Amino acid sequence: SAAEKDGHDWFMRKEIFEQPHAVADSLLGRRTPEGLLQLDEMRLSDQDLRDIDKIIIIAAGTSFYAGMVAKYAIEHWCRIPVEVELASEFRYRDPILTTETLVVAISQSGETADTLQAIRHARVQRSKVLAICNTNGSTIPRESDGVIYTHAGPEIGVASTKGFLTQLVACYLLALYLAQVKGTRFGDEIGQVMDQLDEMPGHIETVLGKAEEIYELARAHVGSRSVLFLGRHAGYPVALEGALKLKELAYIHAEGFAAGELKHGPIALIEEGLPVLCVVPPRGRDQLHSKMISGIQEVRARGARTLCLAEEGDDTVARYADVLITLPQVPVLLQPLVAAVPLQLFACELATQLGHDVDQPRNLAKSVTVE
Ligand code: G6P
Repeated sequence: SAAEKDGHDWFMRKEIFEQPHAVADSLLGRRTPEGLLQLDEMRLSDQDLRDIDKIIIIAAGTSFYAGMVAKYAIEHWCRIPVEVELASEFRYRDPILTTETLVVAISQSGETADTLQAIRHARVQRSKVLAICNTNGSTIPRESDGVIYTHAGPEIGVASTKGFLTQLVACYLLALYLAQVKGTRFGDEIGQVMDQLDEMPGHIETVLGKAEEIYELARAHVGSRSVLFLGRHAGYPVALEGALKLKELAYIHAEGFAAGELKHGPIALIEEGLPVLCVVPPRGRDQLHSKMISGIQEVRARGARTLCLAEEGDDTVARYADVLITLPQVPVLLQPLVAAVPLQLFACELATQLGHDVDQPRNLAKSVTVE
């Protein structure tokens, strides 16, 4: 009923708007009075964690994209090598697992069969297993050595939204916690990043305030047969997630690409009027931003309609954007928390306009308990 959906038409839309809250809840109680990070159900000792020499993240669907962001965060803050692998591929290729390997399984439901079988395989090899999960007492955390619970609350919409954002939060917390335990040179920054994380619910709220603008954009694309998504760095998994949402909900052909790979193939797809959604990294000292801008110029010169998500005050991108949606200014590693939101709203509205069942897309299940 409408009441269960807080007056929204879909659970998914309700859950998108719950994200500031879900993110805040997932950050709650993670700091001791002394300002140290604590993860209640970690259940792996600091010594175990210090011995870890490799991390393998396994997940499926949207959770896999959270894993890609986690890799960037963990390698940057902790200097531990991280692989990210689709759960369904993992055990069939005889992966290298030792007692010093930490396997991180990310699963909103905690019941995805591919992910469950992957952790079982890892445990047989005596690797340590940590779950990032939104469902208390589900199978994956029960079979893991430790768990970081996300506090998104029940997610009803089949396509994950608040589940994804809170997984990102858990991934940042894990990365920062490992940095704290290992005492890397980024140790001093932990408190600072935690403060930045605490500001994210407000930033997500700001993005949600632009919902009408995004819906209008969605309505303008009801007739599109294909949409491309480009991103770099942490914006690359966001591009993949934006494309996945559009496939899942609107049944429109959509592909996400790393912007730097355009020239190696995907640019051949560009034709007059093709919508290309560009996740622009924040301006920084590195060349990420300028490289992204040249990618945008390239596709626009070939007729693409550039729909850009870029931080407030980014005047350079404004010159090459057919449509510009601004995001709050946040560090590049945290940008997925704000950049994913317009893409969720876009897919939700486009699917609604097309008359599809947003909460129960055809052929999909909330949790896939067969391999
Ligand atoms: C299904 C859902 C997706 C979800 C994926 C992984 O395919 O439709 O939305 O991302 O499973 O689910 P999990 O519960 O393991 O995160």
